[in-house]
Amino acid sequence: MMNQNGILVHSIGARWTLPPVFHYKYYPQHLRSSTKRSLRVVKAAMSNTAGQVIKCKAAVSWEAGKPLVIEEVEVAPPQANEVRIKILFTSLCHTDVYFWEAKGQKPAFPRIFGHEAAGVVESVGEGVTDLKPGDTVLPVFTGECKECRHCKSEESNMCDLLRINTDRTVMLSDGKSRFIAKGKPIHHFLGTSTFSEYTVAHIGSVAKIDPAAPLDKVCVLSCGISTGLGAAINVAKPKKGSSVAVFGLGAVGLAAAEGARISGAARIIGVDMNPSRFEQAKKFGVTEFVNPKDHDKPVQEVIAEMTDGGVDRSIECTGSIAAMISAFECVHDGWGVAVLVGVPNRDDSFKTHPMNLLNERTLKGTFFGNFKPRTDLPRLVEKYVNKELDLQLEKFITHEVSFSDINKAFDYMLKGEGLRCIIRMGA
Ligand SMILES: NC(=O)c1ccc[n+]([C@@H]2O[C@H](COP(=O)([O-])OP(=O)(O)OC[C@H]3O[C@@H](n4cnc5c(N)ncnc54)[C@H](O)[C@@H]3O)[C@@H](O)[C@H]2O)c1
Ligand SMILES: [Zn+2]
Ligand SMILES: [Zn+2]
Repeated sequence: MMNQNGILVHSIGARWTLPPVFHYKYYPQHLRSSTKRSLRVVKAAMSNTAGQVIKCKAAVSWEAGKPLVIEEVEVAPPQANEVRIKILFTSLCHTDVYFWEAKGQKPAFPRIFGHEAAGVVESVGEGVTDLKPGDTVLPVFTGECKECRHCKSEESNMCDLLRINTDRTVMLSDGKSRFIAKGKPIHHFLGTSTFSEYTVAHIGSVAKIDPAAPLDKVCVLSCGISTGLGAAINVAKPKKGSSVAVFGLGAVGLAAAEGARISGAARIIGVDMNPSRFEQAKKFGVTEFVNPKDHDKPVQEVIAEMTDGGVDRSIECTGSIAAMISAFECVHDGWGVAVLVGVPNRDDSFKTHPMNLLNERTLKGTFFGNFKPRTDLPRLVEKYVNKELDLQLEKFITHEVSFSDINKAFDYMLKGEGLRCIIRMGA
C-alpha cells in the first residue's frame, strides 16, 4: 500500500509495516522484485552493507561559494553510538548557504553540507539500542544525549555533548571523518552532512519518527520549520490577541508567523527587505508588512508608531545584526519580549543602549525553537500526522529538484525565490 507520500509501505501480518526504505525506487535493481518477498529476505539484503564501506553519491563542496560537485564517496560504517542513515529527502536552509559562502563564517573545505533531511537507518554501530536498521528518522543539527544537565533540565535543549557546533567537522567518538572522496577525507557539517545518499550521525542527533509520516514533507521539520514554530510557541509565547513582529519572511520566519497565528496573536507584522516575500506571507497569517527600505527612519520606530509604543513580541529570523537590534528595540517597554533566531556572522556584536533593557524589555535567543530533538520532535511529527496541529507543511515547499540538480536549490535561495526546495536523493 502507498502512504500519503507515495512511498510504498507493505503490511506484513496484522501489525507489521515495512518502512519507506523498502520502496523499490530506493532499492537496488536486482532487489526490486523483493517487494513481494518476505520481510526476512529483505532484511537480509539490508544487512549486506552493515559493517562495510558504502560507495554512493554525495554533493561535495570543494571551495567556498563554488557549485557543489556530485562525487562518488566512500562512507565508513558507523562506530560506537553512531548510525548510518540512507537519506531519502533533504532541503536547503540558509545556515548551509552561510557556511558554503564562508564570507562571515569559518571556512572548512572540502565539506558535505546539509542538515534538514529525512531518511532511514541502514546500520547501527556498537552499543546502539535505541535505533535499528529500517527506523525512519530525522537527523538534527543539535543533539540530545539525555544524560547531561541541559538534557535533564526542562528549560534547555543546549546539550553539553551535542549542542550545535559549526566548528566541529569530524565525528565525536574518534575525531575522524566518515567520508572519503578522491582519496581525501571530507569535513562533516553540523554532525548531519545530509547532502549524501548515506551519512553517519551520532545517535543523539537522530530523532526516530512515525514511519507513516510523509518524509518529503516532514524533512523540513528537522530544522527550519520546527525552529520558527518553536521560537514562537516555546520561547516568545505570544498571548491571545497580542501583536507580534516577525523579521525575515523566509521559511523560518513564516514558521514563526504560523506559531504566532496558532498562539492566537491578533496582529502579525512581517518585516522583510524583499517585497516579493509579502504576497506569499499572507498565506501564513501575516496581517501587515513593513519594508525597512521604504522608510527613512529606523524600522523599530516605524513599528512603535504602528503599535502605540511597540509590539508585544518580536521574532528575528534574518541573520542580519541590524535586524536583530531592530527586533529588540521594537518591542514594547514593560513587557515586550524579543527572540533572536538568525545565525549572525562570526564577528558581529549586538549593540543597544542598556536603558532599553532597564525599561523592562526581554531579549532571548533560541536554537531549534527550544525543542529537544529526540524527545519533542517525534511528538511534533505525530501531531502533524494526526492533524492535531494546524501546520500545513506543503505551504513551505515551493520547489523540488533531483539530487543531481542540487545547485538549483542554492540559486533559489540566493535569489530569494521560494521557501524550501526539497532535494530528492537517488533521482
Ligand atoms: N537558531 C536556529 O536554530 C536556526 C535554525 C535554522 C535557521 N536559522 C537561521 O534563521 C535565518 C532564516 O533562515 P531561512 O532559511 O528562513 O532563510 P531565508 O533566506 O529563506 O530567509 C531570510 C529572510 O530574511 C530577509 N532579510 C535579510 N536581511 C534582512 C533585514 N535586515 N531586514 C529584514 N529582512 C531581512 C531576507 O530577505 C529573507 O526573506 C538564517 O539566519 C538561518 O541561518 C537559525
Ligand atoms: Zn537549518
Ligand atoms: Zn545532553
